[in-house]
Amino acid sequence: MSVLDGKLVAEKIQGELRLEIERLKGEGGPVPGLVVVMAGDDPASRSYVNSKNKLAEKLGIRSELVPLPENASAEAVIRSIEKANSDPLVHAILVQMPLPRHLDSWRILGRILPEKDVDCFHPYNQGLILQNRASLFPCTPAGVMRILDHFGIEPAGLNAAVVGRSFLVGKPMAAMLVNRNATVTLCHSRTVNLGMILREADLIVAAVGKPGFISADMVKPGAVLIDVGINHVAKEEDFVKFCPPSQHEGFKKKGYAISGDIHFQAFAKAGHYTPVPGGVGPLTVTMLMHNTVELCKRSISVTSTKE
Ligand code: GUN
Repeated sequence: MSVLDGKLVAEKIQGELRLEIERLKGEGGPVPGLVVVMAGDDPASRSYVNSKNKLAEKLGIRSELVPLPENASAEAVIRSIEKANSDPLVHAILVQMPLPRHLDSWRILGRILPEKDVDCFHPYNQGLILQNRASLFPCTPAGVMRILDHFGIEPAGLNAAVVGRSFLVGKPMAAMLVNRNATVTLCHSRTVNLGMILREADLIVAAVGKPGFISADMVKPGAVLIDVGINHVAKEEDFVKFCPPSQHEGFKKKGYAISGDIHFQAFAKAGHYTPVPGGVGPLTVTMLMHNTVELCKRSISVTSTKE
């Protein structure tokens, strides 16, 4: 059983990005620019956005937060997007999900220019992924792929099960694994006999947002377990059910613990697994910076071919 250390992979990519950003600067190129539009003040979103800002600053990426109130209209959100669309200093635009319930996410995400769509949520970019013609990918599944590649886990020929069908993670993840020649089952809340499917899987990617949802008895011995879940566990009874006793001190001190979607007892059966925290999490924000730099570089080549 071996731990797939996401922090290690993230630090390696960040090192490469630093060099790339320096190189751009040295050639008199632009500073990569990211705009994050956030409507409302969801605590989890705020914490994601803070970590994005911190990493951007560390790497030398220009990052601007556009905060909008919880009751912002669709028009107000779209106005912020269009302002960023037409700003040549902005190469990447992210609209933080989830949006407040009164807003239509598809309508809003469809207004980001595809060439500034850092999350690859625009229908054009999603289509490229399905057609296996994409070179940028949504940040979390892109991070999962980087972990697999770094540790030499080849998806081709594996039976892979992706649990969760969100457009942020599960659906693009399934398509990306198919593109890498895995045989993929995309499981979701209406899947009948999840355990039977998972016990056949050589690779499980869990992205459901429920602590300890995948139990040890659902996992094939030696399987690769990738845990995308970052769940706050604040109730003592949930802590006892879902978290290892080794986290008890931390739980007492902070009043909560972080649990993944895969029950910790399953890791003892795994061939390889990503821990929570320190697995996929550090890759998500790192791949956001990677995509920002890539979009910046593409903007230069588009400008120079126009000339
Ligand atoms: N909310 C949680 N994860 C993400 C992400 O990867 N992108 C955006 N835009 N919102 C998120």
